[in-house]
Amino acid sequence: MTSVNTEKLSSARFAQATDAFVEIFTASVDFDQRMAMQDIQGSLAHAQMLHSIGILTASELVDIQTGLAQIQAEIGAGKFVWSIQQEDVHMNIEARLTDLIGIAGKKLHTGRSRNDQVATDIRLYLRDEIGVIQTQLKRLQFALLDLAEQHADTIMPGFTHLQVAQPVTFGHHLMAWFEMLSRDAERLDDCKKRLNIMPLGAAALAGTSYPIDRFMTAQLLGFLRPSNNSLDSVSDRDFAIEFTAAASLIMLHLSRFSEELILWASAQFNFIDIPDAFCTGSSIMPQKKNPDVPELVRGKSGRVVGHLMSLLMLMKGQPLAYNKDNQEDKEPLFDTVDTVVNCLRAFADMMPHVEAKKDTMYQSAKRGFATATDLADYLVRKGLAFRDAHEIVGQAVRLGVETNRDLSELSLSELQGFSTQITEEVFSVLTLEGSVAARKHIGGTAPETVRKAIKAAQHLLQLG
Ligand code: ARG
Repeated sequence: MTSVNTEKLSSARFAQATDAFVEIFTASVDFDQRMAMQDIQGSLAHAQMLHSIGILTASELVDIQTGLAQIQAEIGAGKFVWSIQQEDVHMNIEARLTDLIGIAGKKLHTGRSRNDQVATDIRLYLRDEIGVIQTQLKRLQFALLDLAEQHADTIMPGFTHLQVAQPVTFGHHLMAWFEMLSRDAERLDDCKKRLNIMPLGAAALAGTSYPIDRFMTAQLLGFLRPSNNSLDSVSDRDFAIEFTAAASLIMLHLSRFSEELILWASAQFNFIDIPDAFCTGSSIMPQKKNPDVPELVRGKSGRVVGHLMSLLMLMKGQPLAYNKDNQEDKEPLFDTVDTVVNCLRAFADMMPHVEAKKDTMYQSAKRGFATATDLADYLVRKGLAFRDAHEIVGQAVRLGVETNRDLSELSLSELQGFSTQITEEVFSVLTLEGSVAARKHIGGTAPETVRKAIKAAQHLLQLG
């Protein structure tokens, strides 16, 4: 015995009520209610356009506007009752609107479908959230610039293969992070361009027979233009994938910064102090101060990359046009947004309080024969071939290792034992200060160059 579920969507078509579990299984309202404000924004623009082409009367438009304003207030106040029977955010709002204003509420869906509605909502939602992400990104960039400015001439070892390679300035190292974030910000800008195209008007898949004015709706919603193809508009989620890819790169960058901070905060490196407010202790080992924030950020990078994989897989088998599969795009997307915003925020809050231990950094650069390349370059300037110079410096380093001294601590006569070309002024190139100061071309680590890079970056960031 079957009964008609009068609550059911398109109920006239169905002789059977929806299976109780299927109703829960297919509903998305628990998570897509997050796009409620964008859904209302889209409906307001759509209604205005319907009025302009004579489909809604002036009083119907006013009713819709008043009803939607009330719904917006109810949602804002946490008083809106979401119902699983109404399946998703779109149907919930429409049903409530009809409760409130009657027949005009039922007319709102003229010339549109949930397929173009949802595609529009996600774009509006992402556009808003990209703004939030960019604000946090910028805060972090400013924090890095401040720290870099304080440490434009703080010397630390630069690493390759995590072995001491050449001295660099801490400011220069921080500016490397800054550069990565600048590209991340650019990627978001770029993603926003393709995101900002309006699907509304594509209706279910083929467009609509009503004389809709898509340019008007696009303009009302701040979209660049209406989309070109209705099938594509309701179907593709490449903009969401692109966003999640950009978010994954942000997280990858944050994860790499985290890894460095964690290493540097260890007793073995002892390059930095992460303030207590960003660390926790151990429940068993009283001496512990764990760098939780960077560790968690490093960990969270995995879930965003996972979301990227989910979205790619979600799309790959879908024929045109809309398929219910696409409902699965939201949770990964929402979690990506939350994760990126929170991680950037935690980093932006923490970085201004990170304290560099200049002395340990300096001593560590000194212990690693970081100026060996400078000695080789010096010998080349004296006329030796680079390979011969490399060989000679290798011998000098060996003596340093055996006698536990830095190159700058070997005596002139010891050095001259390796090459008679070496004279007293060699010591100016063997110092860490001399080594960094010499690298003053654009992109180099010299304090004066780093200061210039910081100035230029500050200027750009203030403009942007
Ligand atoms: N909740 C749906 C989604 O997230 C809205 C679109 C539903 N369209 C449909 N034809 N069932 O994708």
